[in-house]
Amino acid sequence: MSPTPSRTLVLLAHPRLSASRINAALLDAARDISGVTIHDLYHAYPDGDIDVAAEQQRLLAHDTVVLQFPIQWYAMPALLKHWFDEVLQSGWAYGRDGNALAGKGLFVAATSGGDPAGYGRHAAQFTLTELFRPIEASARYCGMRWLGHVAYGANERINARLPEFAIDYRSRIAALARGDAHPEHDSR
Ligand SMILES: Cc1cc2nc3c(=O)[nH]c(=O)nc-3n(C[C@H](O)[C@H](O)[C@H](O)COP(=O)(O)O)c2cc1C
Repeated sequence: MSPTPSRTLVLLAHPRLSASRINAALLDAARDISGVTIHDLYHAYPDGDIDVAAEQQRLLAHDTVVLQFPIQWYAMPALLKHWFDEVLQSGWAYGRDGNALAGKGLFVAATSGGDPAGYGRHAAQFTLTELFRPIEASARYCGMRWLGHVAYGANERINARLPEFAIDYRSRIAALARGDAHPEHDSR
């Protein structure tokens, strides 16, 4: 049986996309995939004033959500956290009658200054799977399907690896949009 296409929303949260190397390249690679919508939060809300109704409508119109962001202080950038706080409201995303997101998939695509594969062994002491637990917990609390994460490293070899990262990201997002994705955790 062929998988059911999954309308996929990429929520990009980069505070300085104009200075970005990896996220900008990943975004370009995923831009024209059929069934994929890209929404740049810092571009949409430069003053942080989130249009909650519009964000909720956008979520309702998609089956899978991808959070794409650079890791900052072991967490998502502030506007994305603000988006969680504002958009995922009681009675809508959770709580009494709050099932708007139930069954939708959530996937994280992050970039890191540290080598993502060595994250748990070096300075951070925690793996990315551990650091992303609050996102996983939030997704599960809202009845979403946790689809895991991929992380790309911004180390000194980044220029050489950018094309590889871009191809990898495009194929992952395309798989999500085809409805052909399985939970996984991967660090590049
Ligand atoms: C304020 C700030 C905090 C950061 N904190 C972390 C961190 O905790 N862990 C990490 O691996 N990288 C950290 N970084 C590095 C960024 O994750 C890295 O520069 C980014 O992923 C590169 O992607 P880009 O080329 O799209 O900007 C931080 C960068 C900034 C600006």
